[in-house]
Amino acid sequence: MRDAAPNTVYLKDYKSFGYLVDQVHLTFDLSPNATRVTSRIAFSPNPETEDRSFFLHGEKLRLIRAAIDGTAVSPEITAEGLRVAAPDAPFVWEAEVEIDPANNTALEGLYMSNGMYCTQCEAEGFRKITYYPDRPDVMSTFTVRINGDLPVLLSNGNPVQRGEGWAEWHDPWPKPAYLFALVAGDLVAHSDSFTTISGKSVDLNLWVRPGDEHKCAFGMEALKKSMKWDEDTYGREYDLDVFNIVAVDDFNMGAMENKGLNIFNSSCVLASPDTSTDANFERIEAIIAHEYFHNWTGNRITCRDWFQLCLKEGLTVFRDSQFTSDMRSAPVKRITDVIDLRARQFPEDNGPLSHPVRPESFQEINNFYTATVYEKGAEVIGMLKRLVGDAAYAEALDLYFARHDGQACTIEDWLKVFEDVTGRDLSQFKRWYSQSGTPRLKVEEEFSEGTYTLTLTQHTDPTPGQPDKQPQVIPVAVGLLSPNGDEVVPTRVLEMTEGTQSFTFEGLAAKPVPSILRDFSAPVIVERETDTAERAFLLAHDTDPFHRWEAGRALARETLVEMATGDATPLPDYLDGIRTLLRDKSLDPAYRALMLGLPGQSELAGHLHEAGITPDPAAIWIAVEDLKQALARDLQDMLPDIYAEAQVDAPYAPDAEQSGKRALGAAALDLISRLDGGKQAAAQYEAADNMTLQLSALGCLLGAETGDAQLAAFYDQWKDDRLVIDKWFMLQIMKAKPDRAAAVAKALTEHPDFTWKTPNRFRAVFGALAGNHAGFHDSSGAGYDLLADWLIRLDPLNPQTTARMCTAFQTWKRYDAGRQEMIAAQLDRIAATPDLSRDAGEMISRIRG
Ligand code: PHE
Ligand code: ZN
Repeated sequence: MRDAAPNTVYLKDYKSFGYLVDQVHLTFDLSPNATRVTSRIAFSPNPETEDRSFFLHGEKLRLIRAAIDGTAVSPEITAEGLRVAAPDAPFVWEAEVEIDPANNTALEGLYMSNGMYCTQCEAEGFRKITYYPDRPDVMSTFTVRINGDLPVLLSNGNPVQRGEGWAEWHDPWPKPAYLFALVAGDLVAHSDSFTTISGKSVDLNLWVRPGDEHKCAFGMEALKKSMKWDEDTYGREYDLDVFNIVAVDDFNMGAMENKGLNIFNSSCVLASPDTSTDANFERIEAIIAHEYFHNWTGNRITCRDWFQLCLKEGLTVFRDSQFTSDMRSAPVKRITDVIDLRARQFPEDNGPLSHPVRPESFQEINNFYTATVYEKGAEVIGMLKRLVGDAAYAEALDLYFARHDGQACTIEDWLKVFEDVTGRDLSQFKRWYSQSGTPRLKVEEEFSEGTYTLTLTQHTDPTPGQPDKQPQVIPVAVGLLSPNGDEVVPTRVLEMTEGTQSFTFEGLAAKPVPSILRDFSAPVIVERETDTAERAFLLAHDTDPFHRWEAGRALARETLVEMATGDATPLPDYLDGIRTLLRDKSLDPAYRALMLGLPGQSELAGHLHEAGITPDPAAIWIAVEDLKQALARDLQDMLPDIYAEAQVDAPYAPDAEQSGKRALGAAALDLISRLDGGKQAAAQYEAADNMTLQLSALGCLLGAETGDAQLAAFYDQWKDDRLVIDKWFMLQIMKAKPDRAAAVAKALTEHPDFTWKTPNRFRAVFGALAGNHAGFHDSSGAGYDLLADWLIRLDPLNPQTTARMCTAFQTWKRYDAGRQEMIAAQLDRIAATPDLSRDAGEMISRIRG
């Protein structure tokens, strides 16, 4: 059997470990198929508990010898670890194990990628390296000796000594095992340094494969900006002599915050103007910041157990979005975060995988690195900040760092600092951590004799395991506009705590138009009977940039829903509103580009489903195409102008200003291509001197079905750059017409470059297929079948990535009986696979319901 029997772990069962770890000493003798790991670990009884049972996690290890205080012992060994009698006094545990990094395709523990050794230990990967109490509340200092005939040998902390074929590292900061890291290989460094606020100089290195040196500069700048920002904004200084980042091609996730040795998926750190898009640059800057910020929110203060994952992830996502808002445009960042939340978190929270921000049980923790824990977790912190105010937030964070430095904490600890600073009782607020599902906010209004009353009612549908919901604390930012478009009541935060609650505004001359949930002040769905004219009014006049965009979005959705469910034509109010906005050169180009964007097709399907209408993916696709065609025709006279305005005539820089222009240019080009059959796009493709322009042009050409020559040329130009080839795979599938998508994807799985064991390449193909809504859900069922085939194939090698990709099926209950039947059959086929991993098994059974 590959994995232990599904075993559910519960938050309520938490017990501390019977021993403290005072020191860890590890020696690695590296060898691809037989790496020896020798551990010497000093344990002492944990005064907090009487329980002295001594169980060490360990998986896929070959134990060679074990000893306690120098005397050999023979532990009882299972698939999950070992048990042995241990003294009720301090002792030294020694063990020697052998592992096989070259055959570690799961990319968890110590594995190899292109000849380089590398580790991934979060959440429970350290147990694949040696026997250890692999839980985040067991913290210790680590000394690591690496023996290996490789030019670069890295681990956490500071370098101690280096010799021919070996290196020794010491990390003075106690840490849980999930933050352990080791890297060894033939790497080159892009180096720099940073002087901290107290004047300490830190060596910075970005380690990459030879040939990637030219893709390091941007990441290094992002790192320095992050270090400075965390000092300026949170008073957090870096705490080691060196900070190393390593880029690796084979990685299940985006990046990992190992103490002093961050490991990045190469797609999340390597960047150059000719190979990376503006969006790539922005994402890289954010991820570098995110991992760096973990040094305090995650590493210095860590999680007591994995149920508390949002303690570090929600907070660190919140911090990285603050950083991006400061570095770039705050409204644009807010809007893109909401787009992302609605695309990824809302379906999760309103489907079979719904779980609280702090889950109460799991089978496989790797399945809980979710949009709910991360993104909703960050929204919860944003609400807290809005409720207590900026000053109290800052004070609470200072107290959090002062009080909990060096500890493994819980959400209770986190909320307590806010309670202590503000004197507030946050017990009701805490429901945001325990209740799953997206609250719906019904809005009713009344106006008489100068008094305007808003009555809000909250409701959350039942979610798996939670039939009844309690009212939550919802900060609702509201502003009021007078009928002539002036703001008569500036933004005010209504603090809703009851199921139904009324708020009044007095002294108004006329019935105002409300702007509700400004800045998206809470992760809820607003339900309000409103009309097109009012949305158009807000689109024209709202002073809150988020809500102004929201009004346009609502109009676009309304028009698309009508078009997808009947033979309606686009709403004139929508077209007029967009036209006016586009013409307004006082608005940031990035903002205007967002205004031109349409809701995603999956989002529309979810919307229809909620309105009690079974979504037809093909009809939605046609509606979107028709609306774009209508927009193109309607805006025809101004598109060339906008396209021209969006041209950048300065050397390429991936900054907010230039990126905004290129985003607007791409939106315009998409429409232009629907009128000129791709002529302008072909010209842009020819002239492009950066990947952003090259790729957006290629996308338009493929959309217009005239891009074959460019597609081939693109491959030829970039065949040696794996990150660009990922884009080549992805784009073809994303742009394929619905009835062709599965066939295009299938053909690409037969391409010699489809190195499917590399998660980036697997995701390029199947992430794109799942993201092509109408293509994936094509009525033939070919998309479902292809994905299921490949999930079954990948699972024995890489359960983690397989399990994540299963989420493509999570929305299956929205669709018609025929599609549901086909998907159910695929889910059952996957579930019936012999030796299915615990990861995929848990996901499939939750999705199947
Ligand atoms: N902790 C990482 C982050 O959020 C994510 C991660 C989880 C990476 C598990 C690898 C494995 O920054
Ligand atoms: Zn993180």
